[in-house]
Amino acid sequence: MISPEFLNACRDILGAGQVITDPEDMAAYLTDWRGRFTGSAAAVLRPADTQQVAAVIALCAAAKVPVVPQGGNTGLVLGSVPDRTGNAVVLSMKRMNRIRSMDLVNNTITVEAGCILETVQDTASEAGRLFPLSLAAEGSCTIGGNLATNAGGTAVLRYGSMRDLCLGLEVVTADGKVWEGLRGLRKDNTGYDLRNLFIGAEGTLGIITAAVLKLFPQPKVQVTAMVGLNTPEDALRLLTMAQATCAASLTGFELMSQFSLALVTKHFPQMRTGFAQAYPQYVLLEISDSESEEHATAMLEALVAEAMESEVLCDAIVASSIAQSKALWSVREHITLAQAAEGKHVKHDVSVPISSIAEFIDKTDALLQEAFPGCRMVTFGHLGDGNLHYNVSAPEDLADEAFITHQDAINRIVHDSSVRFGGSISAEHGLGMLKRDEIRRYKSDVELGLMLAIKNALDPDRLMNPGKVL
Ligand code: FAD
Ligand code: MLT
Ligand code: ZN
Repeated sequence: MISPEFLNACRDILGAGQVITDPEDMAAYLTDWRGRFTGSAAAVLRPADTQQVAAVIALCAAAKVPVVPQGGNTGLVLGSVPDRTGNAVVLSMKRMNRIRSMDLVNNTITVEAGCILETVQDTASEAGRLFPLSLAAEGSCTIGGNLATNAGGTAVLRYGSMRDLCLGLEVVTADGKVWEGLRGLRKDNTGYDLRNLFIGAEGTLGIITAAVLKLFPQPKVQVTAMVGLNTPEDALRLLTMAQATCAASLTGFELMSQFSLALVTKHFPQMRTGFAQAYPQYVLLEISDSESEEHATAMLEALVAEAMESEVLCDAIVASSIAQSKALWSVREHITLAQAAEGKHVKHDVSVPISSIAEFIDKTDALLQEAFPGCRMVTFGHLGDGNLHYNVSAPEDLADEAFITHQDAINRIVHDSSVRFGGSISAEHGLGMLKRDEIRRYKSDVELGLMLAIKNALDPDRLMNPGKVL
């Protein structure tokens, strides 16, 4: 139970208006993006700078108050919301949203954790640089959340995930000290890599307050195409061809099943791909080129022609304007929203070696149909990274509420299958509360033991985002 003295001490540090205790004002911080879980908290704390974070974390450490860090609250694994005990405080990082500096020779930008991803992309772009992390929630997710989940998205194929885009961190440790690790170095072999411990830790080891991120030259032009194909196997053949033809210019390669797109056009009727007929599978490809639009378009058209000739694809639309390219990406980015509008479903974020994706889909589809006849697969994702959002919706004649009571059995089939193929049960979303128990089935005692040893060393009182990950 949190004492009034504790809350008053927080008010002294943050200002009274930044310690929220009114249930109505706290509500938005307590429910996850998918509306699947509502927790409870003693207060929401909204610090404005690193010193304030350090001071309130020191208070929490002294009073043994658990802390749930939160950015944009767009996470998909119940990592950013508190449990139902009401013992914790939510630490909202959204006021820490300053761009601290940019170094255009070093190609780095130093930003605070509460910066919205899109703001960082726009700031880089205005300076003639690219910050490549890109995901559908970019208008509301924060850099701190991106780092804490090691976010992926649609440009990992070329630029890597958030871990690959970060050079340095500033972190408030569980006992309220500030680790000043904001180095903009591409080479630094001076012992254990602390930065990479905090990235992907989902707030369970400390609070990320700022980061040095990598910038890249802006490509002169980006060209997008959407193609219709018969099978995921054909999509893999196309990937191999695209890598041979386009090499490092290939920046996006996203797979979408027909049903995924049908949900988008059902729930967002203004969205259209432009194909005259439906195909079983689609791939959205993006090429970034530093020469010219003609060069990029010629490369993409050569690829499409070769793939057509080899009967790898059935039809293709090469975007002829930025507006058309945005429209194609928009269809891809609305799948999550469309599936949410369709009803509750069981979500997965698996990865397998790229070469195994088609077989994984075939075998797992068959296992699920045997166990849950008529279940509808919403299969889409980052094929170029071997990462599928292999989601399962209720059969048409079954209410989604009844269907999701089978969540554990569905997870078992999908996760066992991905692990059989040498895969992972979480490619980019993390574990949060949703997959915390599930992961124990798949990691060895040695691996779990090492993770626990790190947790115990950095957060011995288990106050940093308790109940998440481990
Ligand atoms: P939150 O949801 O607030 O928090 C996520 C986790 O990070 C929590 O565990 C939280 O405690 C921790 N955390 C937040 N800030 C800090 C901090 N400063 N210090 C320490 N810990 C912190 N994810 C992908 O990887 N790829 C995608 O393509 C993708 N697409 C998405 C599309 C949609 C429509 C939606 C809704 C989500 C998508 N996501 C995707 C998931 C989500 O957007 C990402 O996980 C994102 O990185 C979360 O950022 P956030 O600021 O919202 O973090
Ligand atoms: C995506 O790739 O669109 C996301 O990771 C979101 C999702 O899995 O729904
Ligand atoms: Zn994704």
